[in-house]
Amino acid sequence: MSRFRKIFNKSFVGLLLLTCLSLSHKSFAADGEALFKSMCANCHKPDKDYTGPALQGWKDRQPDGWIYKWVAAPGALIDPYASALKTKWKASGIMTAFPQLKKDEIDAIMKYVDEYKPPVVVEGPKNSNDKNTDGNSLLFGVLTLVFALIAFILLQVNSNLKKLSDEKIGVYRSEPVPFYKNKTYLMAGVIGLFALGGYFAIDGAIGLGRMQNYQPVQPIYYSHTVHAGTNQISCLYCHGTAQDSKHAGIPSVNVCMNCHKSIAKYEGPDKLEREDGTAVNGTAEIEKLYEYAGWDPIAKEYKADKNNDGVPDGAKPIQWVKIHNLPDHVYFNHSQHIKVGKQQCQTCHGNIQEMGEVYQFSTLSMGWCINCHRESKVDFFNKADSTGNKFYSIYEKFHNDIKNKKLDSVTVEKIGGTECQKCHY
Ligand code: HEC
Ligand code: HEC
Ligand code: HEC
Ligand code: HEC
Ligand code: HEC
Ligand code: HEC
Repeated sequence: MSRFRKIFNKSFVGLLLLTCLSLSHKSFAADGEALFKSMCANCHKPDKDYTGPALQGWKDRQPDGWIYKWVAAPGALIDPYASALKTKWKASGIMTAFPQLKKDEIDAIMKYVDEYKPPVVVEGPKNSNDKNTDGNSLLFGVLTLVFALIAFILLQVNSNLKKLSDEKIGVYRSEPVPFYKNKTYLMAGVIGLFALGGYFAIDGAIGLGRMQNYQPVQPIYYSHTVHAGTNQISCLYCHGTAQDSKHAGIPSVNVCMNCHKSIAKYEGPDKLEREDGTAVNGTAEIEKLYEYAGWDPIAKEYKADKNNDGVPDGAKPIQWVKIHNLPDHVYFNHSQHIKVGKQQCQTCHGNIQEMGEVYQFSTLSMGWCINCHRESKVDFFNKADSTGNKFYSIYEKFHNDIKNKKLDSVTVEKIGGTECQKCHY
């Protein structure tokens, strides 16, 4: 009996430890975040106005302790602060009441709000914006391992108990097979290896052709930091077709020469260097531009066109290396995103105005497109004051839902932005 107890106690303590490990302290600390996301995030963002006001800075503007009364019953509160707030946000209606929230829960929510920082916009090339999914798969991996261990321990306990009980009633059993020879374990091991191999094979195959962080060497070291950053040249000056066509386009040499007929030297404050740290001479790079343009910097005019091919002798287009490139089976249109969807270049391309040479910031994977379509709202037509995109006046159902408060916004997904044929030829 005492042996029986010992085995049981040992495994029990082990199990307890493992369970505690798997419930790491993080899940307790995340309370405020979870509450915020499930109850408040429909209407509030910590740092930006949304359906309701941005919440950060709440302590500085509200009367002390006011927040508890407000969250419990916003409709009933009629002090001057509440009335002013309601007038200002009349268009959004009155906030939902949450009488069920306790003080400490509200504190946790507001703590999360105060500590919230918007996701950092990338510095330097070696950054992935899919960290979230990485974090999750790590968590799942660890959990799987923990459960596998628990299963293993339970199996051992079970077989030990069986042995004990067999001994007790005097049943003869052959010596147990050590576990590394045990067929069940071997089988499980082989299946595990297959699953793991399969996972990496599929993951690799899907990733084929993906080029996140791709940063080729260009024929001229052309710095977006110098042009779009320090000198504040608008993206659309060079990539103007992004507004009204599928492609953003790359400017021709003529566009460069609009300015560089008179800018022959680089004397700017930005240090020019390549990814590997080698310094770049800006003036020499501008001279390369003159070669391509067929410009004579000394005479300050284009070279003659003696061979009559319509361009100055020696002029040729710059062969920029294309960085972003979706597979041929995908349809992507810039104007739809810039002009209609009102997206910023930086959301998809990162902080281009801080890049020496451009690299591919996003994965350009299907999941990337779809995630954004699930989260982004379209500029939905508002029947009451005729604002928004008139095209969306046709969605009667959504208009009714908004009127009946079943819906407060329409995402790209709702208008069909996740249907296969929208993105695939
Ligand atoms: C249905 C939308 C909605 C939800 C859900 C919602 N709010 Fe609000 N909230 C508003 C609106 C709108 C206002 C502005 C006042 C008004 O018009 O009612 C507001 C105002 C506030 C204010 C005052 C802000 C200030 O500037 O002083 C606080 C604090 C607040 N909400 C906290 C919360 C918390 C915490 C939650 C989640 C438990 C929450 N809200 C959920 C819509 C919402
Ligand atoms: C003065 C002209 C000019 C301005 C202004 C400019 N660009 Fe560019 N851009 C270029 C040229 C030339 C290239 C091709 C060379 C390269 O890739 O660096 C390019 C390349 C790019 C690429 C990569 C294209 C590819 O091959 O996939 C992106 C993305 C881009 N620009 C975005 C922007 C954004 C966003 C802004 C504004 C913040 C901007 N550009 C401002 C001239 C300009
Ligand atoms: C709207 C004016 C303007 C246009 C258009 C323009 N540049 Fe520039 N460029 C500048 C200015 C300003 C500087 C910085 C000069 C300084 O600070 O001394 C500069 C600097 C440069 C430099 C040296 C720094 C570096 O980035 O390596 C190169 C090379 C260059 N430009 C190439 C180009 C090319 C290629 C194009 C066309 C795609 C182009 N520029 C279009 C204004 C322009
Ligand atoms: C919704 C995401 C998104 C936004 C916003 C966006 N782009 Fe792009 N951009 C892409 C994708 C995806 C590609 C690759 C397109 C392809 O291969 O067909 C691309 C390609 C490019 C290229 C390479 C040439 C081309 O047209 O294929 C340039 C230059 C460019 N973008 C500039 C810009 C500029 C400038 C802006 C802002 C005015 C902008 N982009 C906004 C996603 C975006
Ligand atoms: C940063 C967010 C964002 C990303 C990333 C993004 N989109 Fe979009 N997309 C939008 C928005 C917003 C609209 C809605 C524009 C509108 O109001 O019609 C849209 C609309 C579209 C539409 C039209 C949908 C319809 O129902 O008419 C297509 C097609 C599309 N996107 C393709 C793509 C593809 C392909 C990618 C990935 C390569 C992509 N998008 C990545 C934000 C994004
Ligand atoms: C919002 C745009 C969008 C929608 C909607 C969309 N896809 Fe994709 N899909 C893409 C992009 C972008 C790629 C290229 C991904 C890459 O290069 O890794 C892709 C790639 C694929 C691939 C090739 C495998 C791969 O990952 O490269 C298949 C198969 C595919 N999509 C099927 C579908 C099906 C089926 C649907 C409908 C359920 C669908 N797609 C809806 C954008 C979209």
